[in-house]
Formats: sequence, structure tokens, C-alpha cells
Amino acid sequence: MTHSLFQPFTFPSGNELQNHIFMAPITSQSALYDGRVSTEMVEFYRRRARNTGAIIIESTFVQDNGRGYPGAVGVDHDNKIPGLRRLAKAIQAEGAKAILQIFHAGRMAPPMYNQGQQPVAPSPVAPLQDMGDIPGKKTLTPRELTAEEVDEMIEAFGQATRRAIDAGFDGIEIHGANTFLIQQFYSPHSNRRMDRWGGSRDERAHFPLAVTRKVQEVVAEEACEDFIVGYRFSPEEIEEPGIRFEDTMYLLNKLAEEDLDYFHVSLAYYKATSLVDTTDTQPLIEKYRQVQSDRLAQIPLIGVGGIVHRADAEAALAAGYDAIAVGKAFIATPDWPKVIANSDDADWMIEPDQAEDLKIPETLWDDLSLMIRE
Ligand SMILES: Cc1cc2nc3c(=O)[nH]c(=O)nc-3n(C[C@H](O)[C@H](O)[C@H](O)COP(=O)(O)O)c2cc1C
Repeated sequence: MTHSLFQPFTFPSGNELQNHIFMAPITSQSALYDGRVSTEMVEFYRRRARNTGAIIIESTFVQDNGRGYPGAVGVDHDNKIPGLRRLAKAIQAEGAKAILQIFHAGRMAPPMYNQGQQPVAPSPVAPLQDMGDIPGKKTLTPRELTAEEVDEMIEAFGQATRRAIDAGFDGIEIHGANTFLIQQFYSPHSNRRMDRWGGSRDERAHFPLAVTRKVQEVVAEEACEDFIVGYRFSPEEIEEPGIRFEDTMYLLNKLAEEDLDYFHVSLAYYKATSLVDTTDTQPLIEKYRQVQSDRLAQIPLIGVGGIVHRADAEAALAAGYDAIAVGKAFIATPDWPKVIANSDDADWMIEPDQAEDLKIPETLWDDLSLMIRE
């Protein structure tokens, strides 16, 4: 199949984008103290919405104890709807579709951003990686969610979807990647449960499937026929035991039965090879295309990671992705689609005096030191 980056892109639900370009979710750390949308956040996204197919808004917490970062934005309560509506409208007025990424950080939720609460997770197993700004950089052992709390969590993803629809979003992305709660349920490292949410690989798939079905149930109830529902996944994790690529394909082949509009890989490089088996030289995208089920093959796959220049975007489509998402280059080059339409080169480095013109929130700016030219 050949694609052209600048041709319209149609989802299985029928919704259409002006091109094949997504802005990848970027945590802007700029919400108000209680997780409502700020004006600074609206301006960050508005500045990137012209000529862009869709913007995937950063990870947005579905419960108040699920924040992964400072300045996190929430969709956990109806009081978040007016701000989210303002955000969706600003993006849509520039011509892009607005997709909200919904998540819970689970065992990666630092207490200092969650009213001092102990993180919750499928099982009381501490993560291998630290959680960022925890004093002493220690990992914490989370509290195991009760069976009732698991049901409430699934419900929270449903309520988040209802609020996203109410706020006028064109879609949501279920954040099943980057070691957060949904991935934690699928992982044999973080999920040691003995109830119906844990056990074999098939049983560990129950939670991601239940969240996806709940989201689809709400979309059907709200009669939003062309509402976009996507799912982001990390192909592997380094933990032992941990999710391996074959496990991911098993989950995706199952999720593919749930009428999703797209899958979105989370990778640092679109042609990445295995993290776990470093002797394997075959790019994961090639493996994906080899083992996908017929149903999975019908669902668009978005590639990401290290796409900066037009040649990168074209190479990603040629490598087997159906559309592309761009993160860092979109931070540095807000008019990225226009820039690469007119030239082969874009930039992912920022000049020190550009913060204002690029509408980069101050808190995010502090995190971008590697991207700022000396
Ligand atoms: C500052 C920053 C914030 C990010 N926030 C999120 C996020 O909220 N949700 C998510 O799924 N990925 C997040 N990512 C990952 C990006 O979506 C993307 O996958 C990654 O940056 C690789 O693409 P790139 O090379 O084009 O930047 C973030 C990345 C960066 C650099």
C-alpha cells in the first residue's frame, strides 16, 4: 500500500483528517492546580493545530489519584468539561481534529502530585524505574486495587469518554503504553493478581479489553458514530518477567475485534528493533506486519519516534505505518506540516529566545533543556 502524507486520512469509523499527520501526545505540565485546562495550555495546542490532521492531547487523568506529572490535566470530574471544551474548540478552529489521551498512572503516580497518596496498581510490586521527582528517587510499593476499585477504574475510563464527548472532542486515545496502569494490568511484572484480572496472559488481557469495551459502550450510548477511538501501546518492556513483542501482538489481535479506529505505537524511533533481544536486527514494524491477524491489518497503525524531516515521514510510511505522529519536532516547529510541505528539512532544536513565539509553557520549557540550543 502506498500513502501520501498530505492526502486525507480516513478512520474505520468514517471520520476523516485533512492529512496523515498527528501531533503526538506531549505532557505540557501546564494545567491549573486542580487539573483544569489553563489558557497557556490552550495556546500551546492552538499554535500547532494549523495544517495538522489531528492533535492527540497529552495523558489526561481519569481519577484524581492517577497523575503522573506536575501540572497534569484531568478529565476526572464534570468541572473539567468547560476548559476541555475551550481546548477542543481552539484546535478545531484551526482545522485539526482533537483527540484526548486518557490514562491513569497507576504505580507510576508520584505521591507528591497526588495529595500524598500511596500509588494504586494491580499488585503491590514496585516499578523498576524511578518515578521522576520522588525525594531520593526511590520507587514505591503501590497498594493493590480491590476488585471493587478495579470496577470503579473501568467506570472512570467510561466517564472520561463521556466527558470528552460532552466537551466536543473528535475522539479519545486509550493510553495503554509507557508503563502506566493499563499496561501494568497486562504486564506479568506488575500484575500478580489471582482474581479474574490476573493470571495467564489471556487473563491479564481482561483489563485492557474491559476498558476498551466500556469506552465503546459509552460511545454507542452517546450515539457518536464517527467518534475516534484509538489505543496506544508499548511493544515491549524491560522487566523480567515482562511484556515481550509476541505478548503485545496477542493483545492487539484481541483488541482488534473491538472496533478500534487506530493503534498507535510508542517508540523512540519508528524503525526500532527489540529492546529485550538486542541481537535481533529486524525492525518491530516488520514483525508487526508479519504476525498481524486479518482483522488487525484493517486497523490503521500510527508510527512515531525520531520523525523530523519530510524524508523521515515518508520513510515511516514506506516502512509500513499508515500514518505518522510527531512529538519533539512539533514542539520546536509548531508549523511542522507546512514546513515539511515546503522543504525537506525541519528542526527539533529550539533557540533560547523562542519560548514566547512557540507558546511553550514555562514548566515544559524547564524540561526541554536537551532541545534548547546553547
Ligand atoms: C516532553 C514530552 C512529553 C510526552 N508526553 C507524553 C504523553 O503525555 N503521552 C504519551 O503517550 N507520550 C508522551 N510522550 C512521548 C511522545 O508522544 C512520543 O512518543 C515521543 O516523544 C517520540 O516521538 P518524537 O521522537 O517525535 O518526539 C512525551 C514525550 C515528550 C518529549
